[in-house]
Amino acid sequence: SSDLPLKGKNVLVSAGGTIERIDPVRYITNDSSGKMGYRLAEAARDLGAMVTLVSASKLEHPFGVTVKEVQSAREMQAELMASFDEANIVIMAAAVSDYRPVNQADRKMKKTDTDIQINLEENPDILATMGQLKNKQFLIGFAAETNDVEKYALDKLKRKQADMIVANDVSKADAGFNKDTNEVIIIQPNHKPIHIDTDTKEAIAKEILQIAINNLKL
Ligand code: C5P
Repeated sequence: SSDLPLKGKNVLVSAGGTIERIDPVRYITNDSSGKMGYRLAEAARDLGAMVTLVSASKLEHPFGVTVKEVQSAREMQAELMASFDEANIVIMAAAVSDYRPVNQADRKMKKTDTDIQINLEENPDILATMGQLKNKQFLIGFAAETNDVEKYALDKLKRKQADMIVANDVSKADAGFNKDTNEVIIIQPNHKPIHIDTDTKEAIAKEILQIAINNLKL
């Protein structure tokens, strides 16, 4: 129906900053809170979708959403791929660490009297992998930039074969990591960029899903 346009559809969302272990008590992560992804999961639920949220965030689980908690990028990828085939819309709102420590000690590392080095290796690019595997899935990625936002977002759209990139300028005070508001530019193939002025992440989540629904022609 028109008030529940995602009824019977599966929406898969990732959220939060992945955690890459150094040892049992130390890790590398980033400033993502997960708020944008959680608001998207709730908005999709409210539009009637069955929602799976793969989360590396500590936020409280939203009601009526299946939450899979993960830490690392590779765990996130495994949980996402387990739900990918059934998904109609996939939203990669997570800030996935580009690198992980080569060695992840299973015991706490001891202090030494010398400097030490942590070697990092590349993580899989989950969105780019999905871009190559997708068939029916409408694939939405995010881009956090500090400059030339549209240019980099368009480049990301093509490189990762996404259907939409939601770009935000993280240098702005009311946008990006850990804020309750955001200001975004939506980039799609063969569309003019859509600018959404500063608003709550809840309102922006609804607009993003509405644009996706219009493109899906459900
Ligand atoms: O390349 P960049 O990290 O800026 O791209 C951001 C988009 O790609 C986000 O949607 C993010 O979730 C996704 N991503 C990913 N796997 C990575 C890095 C980013 O899926 N290793």
